[in-house]
Amino acid sequence: MKPTEHDIAGMFDVISGRYDLLNHILSGYTDVRWRKLVARLSLDRPVKNILDVSTGTGDLAIAFRRASGTARTYGLDISMEMLKIAGRKSGELIRINGSALSLPFKDNTFDLVSCAFGIRNIYPRERGLQEFYRVTRPGGRIVILEFSMPRGVFGTIYKVYFDRILPLLGNLLSGTTAYSYLQSSVEAFPDPQTFSGMLTSAGFQNIRITSLTRGIATIYLCEK
Ligand SMILES: C[S@@+](CC[C@H](N)C(=O)[O-])C[C@H]1O[C@@H](n2cnc3c(N)ncnc32)[C@H](O)[C@@H]1O
Repeated sequence: MKPTEHDIAGMFDVISGRYDLLNHILSGYTDVRWRKLVARLSLDRPVKNILDVSTGTGDLAIAFRRASGTARTYGLDISMEMLKIAGRKSGELIRINGSALSLPFKDNTFDLVSCAFGIRNIYPRERGLQEFYRVTRPGGRIVILEFSMPRGVFGTIYKVYFDRILPLLGNLLSGTTAYSYLQSSVEAFPDPQTFSGMLTSAGFQNIRITSLTRGIATIYLCEK
């Protein structure tokens, strides 16, 4: 059974205090490099406003704010505790406690809409993508960063880490079962080709896929 928004908000409220540290430890600081690349690829043209959906503790939104200089940057999340930490890290980020399934913005508002490691948790996913599309202005872009499962020999080795070591270590360090959920939700997430098809069905075009660290994560950059 899929978790409800309430379940997910509760899970992130509980792990919020250790979220950043665990991210860095479990990814060997690769997550920082991935977010910087997302900012570099997405900000190759001027943007006036940005919405980071599922902003969590705000790292991607803060990377955008720094790289763009002046863009008005909004970070939206259902977990109030994650947002509180984002607020401590950046006073410039405009924080909104809300759901990706009903974004509190008018149609055609943003030059850039982003979502890092968040779309996996949004159900129904199609409705989330429709909302991203609705609030993006025509000609604007969305960028999604999400885990993917690498293939081949590296994929086999990585799967041992991902299935056994990561949940064990993550659950132990966070004192929760959130990292078992991470593992099962990543494995259930569509592969990059299938997910691109969902982006096309939502109306996006010119989809550019960038595979990161041998396929551990993928960036999807596309236009409305
Ligand atoms: C794995 S964290 C990613 C946080 C951040 N984007 C990052 O890169 O570290 C996922 C975030 O999505 C939020 N989230 C999950 N479902 C959501 C929904 N339906 N609407 C808004 N936020 C949601 C969670 O509260 C959590 O903060």
